[in-house]
Amino acid sequence: MEIITSVKEIQKISFCLRAEKKQIGFVPTMGALHQGHISLIKECKKNNDWTIVSIFVNSIQFNDQNDYKNYPRPLDNDLNICQELQVDTVFAPSLKEMYPEEFLTFVNVEKLSSNLCGEYRPGHFEGVATIVTKLFNITNPHRAYFGAKDYQQTQIIKKLVRDLNFDIEIIVLPTIRDENGLALSSRHKYLSQEEKKQTYVLYKSLKKALSLLDKNIKDPKIIIDQINKIIVKEHLANVEYIKICDPVHLSDLKYISNEALIALAVRFEKARLIDSIIWRKN
Ligand SMILES: Nc1ncnc2c1ncn2[C@@H]1O[C@H](COP(=O)(O)OP(=O)(O)O)[C@@H](O)[C@H]1O
Ligand SMILES: [Mg+2]
Repeated sequence: MEIITSVKEIQKISFCLRAEKKQIGFVPTMGALHQGHISLIKECKKNNDWTIVSIFVNSIQFNDQNDYKNYPRPLDNDLNICQELQVDTVFAPSLKEMYPEEFLTFVNVEKLSSNLCGEYRPGHFEGVATIVTKLFNITNPHRAYFGAKDYQQTQIIKKLVRDLNFDIEIIVLPTIRDENGLALSSRHKYLSQEEKKQTYVLYKSLKKALSLLDKNIKDPKIIIDQINKIIVKEHLANVEYIKICDPVHLSDLKYISNEALIALAVRFEKARLIDSIIWRKN
């Protein structure tokens, strides 16, 4: 496995792979790898000749500087995981390599970035869209893999690929959860044991929403109220938002007809968790 830190070098590698007609798969991560990342890497390995994993804690997508400073960076362990999975190339650049002085260009996917997490994390999706655009230009993959846990992010990336004419297939894979239904995230290490016990309410409340919809309860207000009731029972959980949106446009729905995204963000003392689920009429 090669570990590359320079933009020029990885661009050269991908240029040569393409000349050899190799299919390149790409998995962007911020490291602190867990089973969610591992499922993306395994799927990428299955369907491509060459797998590139990037590990880069993208400073410009953090709206909270403490969150950036404290974000876990267990690089050696991450490299071991990649090695075991037989990743071909890890791209782990420095901050300076990605954002040299006088960096002035940002990518903003309008509308899709404004609702849901965009409302509570100003600048976050601009940071995401900018780094993903840079990484796509640098690694030049045929396919790129993302997790459904970050549903809004996947919609934004699909849109930027279309709008900026990237010839890249975006593959979205299901959310990996622990035995209590909690969607895995690198930020879980911030949770205390007591908090961890209470996190099961996120998925539980989403499943309750699905069952209400299956019973033909179609008023978002009623469903949101039910979700909220379940979550507030756990005293360490503070709801940031619970929303029911159109899965494509991410606008709030006033009435649910054929499909809906039910999405939520819940804060525990040091960790902000997100989860979501899609409901479709049978
Ligand atoms: N539980 C999960 N299941 C599936 N994919 C996930 C999960 N958690 C993160 N991912 C995906 O891994 C990629 C990198 O996310 P990253 O920000 O590094 O991890 P995290 O969100 O856990 O902090 C994203 O495409 C993200 O959606
Ligand atoms: Mg993340």
